[in-house]
Amino acid sequence: MICITRKEHFNAAHKLWREDWSEEKNIEVFGKCANANWHGHNFDLYVTVKGTPNPETGFVIDLKFLSKLIKERVVEKLDHKNLNMDVDFMRGKMASTENLAIEIWKILEPEINIFGNCKLYKLKLYETERNYVEYYGETT
Ligand code: NI
Repeated sequence: MICITRKEHFNAAHKLWREDWSEEKNIEVFGKCANANWHGHNFDLYVTVKGTPNPETGFVIDLKFLSKLIKERVVEKLDHKNLNMDVDFMRGKMASTENLAIEIWKILEPEINIFGNCKLYKLKLYETERNYVEYYGETT
C-alpha cells in the first residue's frame, strides 16, 4: 500500500452563528468566525488516496483524474462562495471546517473507490495556516 496526495485550493466565506444562542454566547464560542458581516478563509484541501500501483501505469490513481474530480465536484462549488448560503451540500449545517471535510468526503469517496486498486484514505483541510482538520471517513 502507498499513499498519494493531491492538493487543491479554494477561498470561501462563512459565519459560525447559532440563532438559538445569544449574541454574547455566539461571540464567546465562535470568536472572529461569528462576525455578523461574514469573513473569508483561504482553504487548502489535501486529498490522499491509498492503494497499490496499477501494473500498467505504475499509478495508484491518475493525478490528472483526481485533480479534475476535486475541481469539478468540490472546488467549483466552494470557491469564492458563501458556505452558509451558496453551497447545496452545506445547507442546514454549521459551516465549520470539520463539517466541510465530512461533506467533501461524502462527495469524493464514491468517485474514487470505483477503482479496484485504491480508495480515499484521508482528507486534510486547512482553514488557516495553523488550523486544520483531518478526516478518515470514520463517523464515530
Ligand atoms: Ni472563520
